[in-house]
Amino acid sequence: MRAKLDQIKAEALAQIQSADALEKLNEVRVNVLGKKGALTAVLKSMKDVAPEDRPKVGQMVNETRAEIETVLDEAITKMERAKRELQMKAEVIDVTLPAKKSNMGHRHPNTIAMEEVERIFIGMGYEVVEGPEIETDYYNFEALNIPADHPAKDEQDTFYISGDILLRTQTSGTQVHVMEKGKLPIRMIAPGRVFRSDEVDATHSPSFHQIEGLVIDKHITFADLKGTLAEFAKELFGEETKVKFRPHHFNFTEPSAEMDVSCFKCGGKGCRFCKGSGWIEILGCGMVHPNVLRMSNIDPEKYSGFAFGMGLERIALLKYEIDDMRLLYENDIRFLKQF
Ligand code: DAH
Repeated sequence: MRAKLDQIKAEALAQIQSADALEKLNEVRVNVLGKKGALTAVLKSMKDVAPEDRPKVGQMVNETRAEIETVLDEAITKMERAKRELQMKAEVIDVTLPAKKSNMGHRHPNTIAMEEVERIFIGMGYEVVEGPEIETDYYNFEALNIPADHPAKDEQDTFYISGDILLRTQTSGTQVHVMEKGKLPIRMIAPGRVFRSDEVDATHSPSFHQIEGLVIDKHITFADLKGTLAEFAKELFGEETKVKFRPHHFNFTEPSAEMDVSCFKCGGKGCRFCKGSGWIEILGCGMVHPNVLRMSNIDPEKYSGFAFGMGLERIALLKYEIDDMRLLYENDIRFLKQF
């Protein structure tokens, strides 16, 4: 029996040694240790062994099995490691190769300016809302205290879709939509696209953008308007920025004003940028007209508010010192990349 076991072991070890692939090693496992393997056959022939010798023979078989298994496992581990090393060598990455350059897009100067304005007002607790670009005459004019035959309509000629339906000339109509919802108080800004039947030149375009603002609450005064917009100007153009309010006329506000900021280029001394005046006009504003409040079902005896509106392109042109609005719409990558 001993001789037989030694022979099985010798053959197994020889096979393991000469194996040149993992499959071959697995074959050895099956042929020697498997269910129908040589060692198992020995165990099955135990019935021919004298009962008193069985424990001893059993032990010998087990020892042989353990020895073969150890050698086999080592051989398998070694072969697997060698295989992995080969694989890694084949997959080597040359980190010194030049990288593929991916061209990342970025925000348009209009978007950068808009997000900056939004950030400032959100910081003051305002909500950002959106109104429709296609409006009825009522929202764009009538409800803003601009009646059918008012000359103010001449300055804002637009594109009519049919009868009363038009492309909005100003974001001010969004004020009406928000007031009609009936939720007070209101503190909102409404950025968006507007349209006017204008010829294209360095400062005009048939489609541009505005940012509207509206605050309605009890006891809102012109002092609130001034304080809010002065703070806004400082945040947008720098801490030293001064503001000036000039009387103006808008149908939907009374009193109305235009706000100028001190020229952030020359600090107010007068330069080419501010055309020598030291001031730059930036927005229209005023206290919401009682007629406007009443038409949207808000009692002007109980509530008051202020509103303002600014041209987004104007802010972007000023902020980035761009001297022609058309550049913002041409989508010339060489231009857009600079911001
Ligand atoms: N809608 C005005 C325009 O397009 C701008 C404006 C002025 C908006 C005064 C306002 C405001 O809300 O109070 O010229």
